[in-house]
Amino acid sequence: MNGTPPLAWDEGLECWVVADPRLARQVLNHPGFTSGTFERSFQLYMTETAREEYHELTAFLRLWFVQADAPEHTALRRPVQRMMSASYVRSLAPRVEEFTDECLDALAATAPYDIVPAVADGISGKVMAHVVGVAEPPEVLHRWARTLSLFIGAMYRRDYAEQAHRTMVEMTEALSRATAPKAFPQETPEDRARTTATWAMNLFGGLETTSSLLASTVLEALGEPPVWDAVRGRQPGAAEEFVEKVLQRRPPLRHLGRVVAHDQELAGERMGQGDLVLVSLTGETLLADATAPAAACPVTGAAGDDGASEQHLVFGFGPHYCVGAPLARLEAAVLLRRFAARFPDARLAPEAAVWGPNLSYVGLDHLYVDLGV
Ligand code: HEM
Repeated sequence: MNGTPPLAWDEGLECWVVADPRLARQVLNHPGFTSGTFERSFQLYMTETAREEYHELTAFLRLWFVQADAPEHTALRRPVQRMMSASYVRSLAPRVEEFTDECLDALAATAPYDIVPAVADGISGKVMAHVVGVAEPPEVLHRWARTLSLFIGAMYRRDYAEQAHRTMVEMTEALSRATAPKAFPQETPEDRARTTATWAMNLFGGLETTSSLLASTVLEALGEPPVWDAVRGRQPGAAEEFVEKVLQRRPPLRHLGRVVAHDQELAGERMGQGDLVLVSLTGETLLADATAPAAACPVTGAAGDDGASEQHLVFGFGPHYCVGAPLARLEAAVLLRRFAARFPDARLAPEAAVWGPNLSYVGLDHLYVDLGV
């Protein structure tokens, strides 16, 4: 483990850091660790005045089911998971191809050729707008996602809270007209608030993460001539196989948060109720744990839906395993194939990659390419 302890208290971050694949799975799949990190962070990082001033924002985020635990979480997740089924994602493939081609047209029409806004944000934004049924263009959806992620990452910042509040108002307005939420409970004000929060969360979940994967896929593929040749040569499965490598080389999320539910001992350390825990998703923590039990999905009963059959933690593990993983994989594989077919002589431009400063995401701000046309 390169001398990194599996579990350690980080004085700077004031939280526990899990840096071990077995322990990571244990924490992500154990009732002794709850998902309510937003609630804990509101208490720890926002002043009482800010909490009062932004109570609508905190109430909205508290309703995201990624913040809930069983049995509430299981019930709220079920209809979303059903909607995002493998057959639904497969049925989206022709639309994803259309969106990808539109974004490649947009890329070719702008100079310098920057993959991030035109292609990575473009495709992920168009796909999520289609899935949720909102009319807003990718740049608006990504502005919302960035604003919310800034606040989630630094709740003590009043300016971030202000912007996140405005985003919540805009999102709520857009989601009141959206198609997907119409099939979810709408009877009471509580139902409507929950449905809006669920779809805001889904929308958010599919934007920054997927954009990061799409840009990294282009970066890595153009940097690896044998892969580029295989994809250009339409070798079956080459794109899908490469996307798996990219996910592990450049996991879009750096860590997942949990809260210690009650005082307990883990890996020889005493953890106190309410302590924050960061499960690292980078380095060796990401890797396979050969001793992991092949648990069935608590929701569908199917093996693999909870990530138990995955070799890595990029999409999480256990009950909160990402509902959008098949969609993100589809978008990345389609992009790779269409990009190679359209611009077979594309190359990375000098100083191609400009990395963003975000601490939670591994994200490119820009990726400049030469289209070779
Ligand atoms: C490469 C792209 C993506 C990555 C790396 C990613 C990563 C993750 C991870 C690690 C989790 C687990 C969170 C936790 O345990 O606290 C998660 C959950 C989630 N993701 Fe994704 N995600 C991606 C794409 C998507 C897409 C496209 C969607 C939307 C369709 C989506 C929607 C969600 C939702 C709704 C959850 C919450 C699941 C739950 O709490 O039960 N994600 N994602």
